[in-house]
Amino acid sequence: MSLPFVIAVDGPAAAGKGTLARRLAQHLGLPYLDTGLLYRAVGRRALDAGADPADPVAAEAAARTLAPADLERGDLRGPVADAAASKVAAIGGVRAALLDFQRRFGARHGAVLDGRDIGTVVFPEASLKLFVTASPEVRARRRHAELAAKGAAPSLDQVARDMADRDARDANRGVAPLRPAEDAKLLDTSALDADAVFEIALSWAVAAQKAT
Ligand code: DC
Repeated sequence: MSLPFVIAVDGPAAAGKGTLARRLAQHLGLPYLDTGLLYRAVGRRALDAGADPADPVAAEAAARTLAPADLERGDLRGPVADAAASKVAAIGGVRAALLDFQRRFGARHGAVLDGRDIGTVVFPEASLKLFVTASPEVRARRRHAELAAKGAAPSLDQVARDMADRDARDANRGVAPLRPAEDAKLLDTSALDADAVFEIALSWAVAAQKAT
């Protein structure tokens, strides 16, 4: 059976992919899945169990028993959840446990999914694949502003260091490392605002819809 219209949006943290993916989904009337939340929830469940999120047995058990309510918890953002998520995301058994959920989500009615491996692993046959990036400095500044707006105030240096650690873990892991799919369209948002990014991506999405 052919896949309904799926847009894969991949890229590093704070590049603007979540904002873009949400807007595309809303505009095109497609379901939206922030796949990072799945890894965040698994990391939290491992911590709840008193385990090290880097422990493959504990992390895989947390992934296999993940329930939709876990995605609604209020503690999935912030430095502790960030670090736990990037540790569980490096474990093959965790990724395998979450793969089926993501594929079923997209295959039902089509979807926009954002993450790190949507175009390379989850939906290599997606109708449109975007790889959204920005310079490390711009991404650290954006994440710092986001945290400051929420009242959390780590220094910009600390945010940049945490982000560099996470980038390295995401890009260098053995399973599903962060990299653009060969046929992904690259979108560097360093010098663009959210509206400009959206307009560019929407024009590609409309062209892809016409082609399918
Ligand atoms: O997008 P995010 O910051 O919420 O992602 C949290 C962590 O999960 C991050 O370290 C990357 C990882 N992740 C992944 O490996 N694959 C995905 N499809 C989504 C997120």
